[in-house]
Amino acid sequence: MQTIAPKEQIDFETNKRLLNRYRFIEYETLRILAGWLPATAKMELKLAMGRLLWEDSQHVQHLYQRLREIQTPAFRPPEDDALELLMAEAIHAPNERDLLAGLFRVIKPALAAAYRWHINQTFANPDAPTLYAFKHILIDEDDQVQWAEQALADHPVGEWERYIADLLAAAGGVTGRHARIAAPAPPTTRHPFVAPRQAARDDRFSLVNRKAGQVIRDQNITTRRQLEFESYSQEMLAAETVALVIYLSPQMPWEFTYDSARHLYDETRHCKLGIEWMAQHGLDYTTVPQNTLIYAWRSQYDAALQYTMLTMGNEVHAFPYRHESIKAYQAYNDQLSIQYINYDMADERTHVAYGKKWIPELLKAEGITQPVEQFVEEAVKRWEAEYRSGVLPIHNAPAEPVFA
Ligand SMILES: [Fe+2]
Ligand SMILES: [Fe+2]
Repeated sequence: MQTIAPKEQIDFETNKRLLNRYRFIEYETLRILAGWLPATAKMELKLAMGRLLWEDSQHVQHLYQRLREIQTPAFRPPEDDALELLMAEAIHAPNERDLLAGLFRVIKPALAAAYRWHINQTFANPDAPTLYAFKHILIDEDDQVQWAEQALADHPVGEWERYIADLLAAAGGVTGRHARIAAPAPPTTRHPFVAPRQAARDDRFSLVNRKAGQVIRDQNITTRRQLEFESYSQEMLAAETVALVIYLSPQMPWEFTYDSARHLYDETRHCKLGIEWMAQHGLDYTTVPQNTLIYAWRSQYDAALQYTMLTMGNEVHAFPYRHESIKAYQAYNDQLSIQYINYDMADERTHVAYGKKWIPELLKAEGITQPVEQFVEEAVKRWEAEYRSGVLPIHNAPAEPVFA
């Protein structure tokens, strides 16, 4: 009998082990970005994080689809304490730029290199679905690494980034194949991460509780239109709530995180849509005071209530106003505003559907036994009393929000 030693280094078992490691890194990166989105101050970074996080959800989805063909359950821990330590530590960065440097200048370039090595070492035809996934994931990873090079060009490599690099080396690299060093001691600048109850804004912005929850029906159409798009430019607040809900709900099924990553990304896109509209009208979005009290108010509640008030309060109730807007702008043939609102409404319909799909699961996950309909009804009543009224009461504040 003739036996042939394969030239490929990655056999079936090794493939599973490696895919579990990659899936773990992509998923934890998504969770870290969700945790940090509200805590990050610089608006340009927040907007980028929405996209990065959503792209990572696509990578997890690619890997999940392959993993469920070769193992049950599809999601498994990497069974490597050093790798788990790396991703557990990566969130405790001293600040937002160190955080992103650790993720996108250390971990992601190493992950991209691992995907490239893997492509050449796995059985090309038998493992073709994995190759297909890597090919597409790499388009994003290369973009992400390039984005970080530019966005953090003036951020020198510091002790935090070196710490992350050493933790990665202690795990034998992304694949775990390399010689391991001893786990490094954390730098003194390590800052234990806690889920943020305040939404950070950079110092270009002023903070004010302006027209919270109120429907803007200015008689003057030009004023109404500007206020509407200024309000879009504040939709980072919705993204921040979805981010916190993702971060607070690790026990939820993967499909929830996948849908919510899209929900979050959409809200950063709506924010950007407001910014773009304002720029096209010669207006600077940083002059719009930010109502971060909305986030502080929502974040005092558990994830199920935050999510229900957002989807069944804000999102369900936005449609009549948007339809009125389209009608009003049609009278002026204002195509830009109409197009933007049409795309926004398409996203918002999806968000309402997410709400209907996931609220019952969130209640189960949080051990809330109240009937779903009753819970939603009470949540909407609370939303009307506390948000629509513009009061936004903080019932048990860890720290008073500062309003200019
Ligand atoms: Fe939105
Ligand atoms: Fe939405």
